[in-house]
Amino acid sequence: MHGKRTVTIDAATEMSVKIRKERTEDVNAIYRVVEEAFDSKLEAELVSLIRSREQSLLSFVATLGGQVIGHVLVSPITITSSSRGNFGGIAPLSVCPAHQGKGIGSALMFAAIEECRKLGLAALFLLGHPEYYPRFGFTVSHLGNEYGATDTFMQLELVPACLKSVRGKAMYVPAFGEIGT
Ligand SMILES: CC(C)(COP(=O)(O)OP(=O)(O)OC[C@H]1O[C@@H](n2cnc3c(N)ncnc32)[C@H](O)[C@@H]1OP(=O)(O)O)[C@@H](O)C(=O)NCCC(=O)NCCS
Repeated sequence: MHGKRTVTIDAATEMSVKIRKERTEDVNAIYRVVEEAFDSKLEAELVSLIRSREQSLLSFVATLGGQVIGHVLVSPITITSSSRGNFGGIAPLSVCPAHQGKGIGSALMFAAIEECRKLGLAALFLLGHPEYYPRFGFTVSHLGNEYGATDTFMQLELVPACLKSVRGKAMYVPAFGEIGT
């Protein structure tokens, strides 16, 4: 499954979902997909703000028949009291409600993780459902976070044991606090 960039969601019509980098012409569709997935404009505004500040490390879309139906963003994470490493935060992850439960979120996650590895990131963090993200290798993080989350703040070491002796609080880019997601 690692590295998988297409998901066949309808074998009869051979419709397949493709994962690729965001393009300029995708911007409005991404806004709509994120808004629909979260049933709120906040996360969509967050994506727009991070993009406008050029703070996105990675922005991938999932397309079906050329239409954007999913999206994932990775932005930098800094860890207080640690100057080591190159870390990323996966957020938000969005799939249109009509297409959820078909493996598209998973395909976006695997593609994002693979790309982050290529980009040389040492570890990834996210705030999310503890039943969903372990399938991608995420485990509960021992680091603090801005949200006071415990079992929902998770990490994935792309460089083995890179976080072992790291202590402190993982901080997202300021846009997260400004938008208030
Ligand atoms: C979370 C989300 C991206 C998953 O996308 P998806 O394409 O439906 O995911 P997949 O098809 O790859 O995986 C479906 C699995 O995820 C699980 N899942 C989805 N949402 C979940 C949730 N909120 N809590 C726990 N598990 C969840 C499903 O139960 C299913 O599990 P199974 O494979 O054991 O049956 C999508 O549901 C979504 O956009 N949700 C709204 C936005 C959101 O909450 N984003 C994540 C936080 S940033």
